Amino acid sequence: MSDFEDKVRETLANPQNQGEMQDADSVGTVGSPDCGDMLRMWLKFTEKDGKKVIDRASFQSFGCQTAIAVASMATEMLKGKTIDEASQLNAQELSGDLGALPPMKIHCGQLVEGALKNALDANDTPVSESEPSTTLAS
Ligand code: FES
Ligand code: FES
Repeated sequence: MSDFEDKVRETLANPQNQGEMQDADSVGTVGSPDCGDMLRMWLKFTEKDGKKVIDRASFQSFGCQTAIAVASMATEMLKGKTIDEASQLNAQELSGDLGALPPMKIHCGQLVEGALKNALDANDTPVSESEPSTTLAS
């Protein structure tokens, strides 16, 4: 068992921020052509020192364990980030303490990155009016 798999297992024992956010300001959804998995992320913004920052984030994933572990890490890491800061985080950075994503699992991290980017892009659209369903380019 690799270090990465251990950390994924640990994270899955107690995943953070899982589930739909009823009062979200924004939502992003992305599907992976590599495995058919799908991930959705909700964001709630607040204002800090005159800047719009992420107050909290939540996610729902259908299928993949690695994507759930990355999304758990990412939704914790996103708290307090500005839109600019959040939009610059890549799949590896979003994986946080999980460590280096194995080559076969990179697309799982990219699923989280894609859902986040869609949610950030949608942040000026009322949640009720946005029904994003984008597919990641493979
Ligand atoms: Fe099953 Fe990704 S869809 S592992
Ligand atoms: Fe496809 Fe993880 S195997 S998202």
